[in-house]
Amino acid sequence: MLDRIEELKTKAISELSAITDSRKLEEWRIAYLGRKGALTQILRGLSAMPVEERRALGAVANDIKALLEGSFAQRQQAIKEAELARVVAAGRLDVTLPGYPSPVGRLHPTTQMVRQICDAFVAMGFQVVEGPEVEWDYYNFEALNIPQYHPARDMWDTLWIDYTGPKGERNMLLRTHTSPMQIRVMEKTRPPVRVVVPGKCYRYEATDATHESMFYQVEGLAVDENISLADLKGTLFEFARRLFGPERRVRFRCDYFPFVEPGVEMAIDCFACEGGGCRLCAGSGWIEILGAGMVHPDVLRRVNYDPEVYTGFAFGVGPERIAMLKYGIEDIRLFYGNDLRFLRQF
Ligand code: PHE
Repeated sequence: MLDRIEELKTKAISELSAITDSRKLEEWRIAYLGRKGALTQILRGLSAMPVEERRALGAVANDIKALLEGSFAQRQQAIKEAELARVVAAGRLDVTLPGYPSPVGRLHPTTQMVRQICDAFVAMGFQVVEGPEVEWDYYNFEALNIPQYHPARDMWDTLWIDYTGPKGERNMLLRTHTSPMQIRVMEKTRPPVRVVVPGKCYRYEATDATHESMFYQVEGLAVDENISLADLKGTLFEFARRLFGPERRVRFRCDYFPFVEPGVEMAIDCFACEGGGCRLCAGSGWIEILGAGMVHPDVLRRVNYDPEVYTGFAFGVGPERIAMLKYGIEDIRLFYGNDLRFLRQF
């Protein structure tokens, strides 16, 4: 019996030392130390023996049990550490490696330009307001001195809304400029008025490098007693100085818009050639950036402003146009083509 126990011990220890994973280790535990394990069987069998023998064998068997349990615990610990080391090695993290850059969003070039333009006028005391993109014929044309069938309507190729009014009139459209907001603002307030109106405009265009069917404008309107063309000129020159710096020269000359009299256009000397003439400015040395003028007396009368008491000026700036000139962008369609390679440059 003693020999059997010794044999069992030797076998158990040698098997144990060959085990390297926890599944095998558990099998080993069940085989030797489990409730039906080899050692347990032997210990059970002792009860049938005479007292003297039982005592001697029992002591030996219990020593071996303790030895096996101790060896098992050691082995278990060693395997656990080895397994943990493997997991750690597989998922090793080098905290000194540089991190992944997180892409930072940015404002659309038009948004940046619109904000710069508005900021320049806000600094001169103008308020920013916005208005509807879907408009009535009345605000977009009629109230601005452009009656139906007036040839000046050809200046604005219009996208009409498929809508018929109660009297069969088809008078809803996508605004072709931000000027309708001149009327809306004056209808709601009394002078002094000083507002700028940024927003989208739409035209029925075949698009090309300089024409889009959707684009932005920033409208401006100032009405008060004693406002003169000199105020318009001073305001726009200051605007150009704030936006383009003191070096840019400004040209101011006549133009025609039905809702202003006199009407003007403003140009700045070309960024690219400094006025010498190049492809960007079509050889003229000048780049037009806005239309403007003194608010027509008929427009003032329309909103019950007395033109004998009040005068005003209005202007309309094209932000994409300015951005194109400022950054040398050659095609207006790039703005709304959603090509990130283009947009990331701003
Ligand atoms: N609304 C005009 C356009 O779209 C620009 C303009 C605005 C001209 C205000 C004069 C005064 O072309």
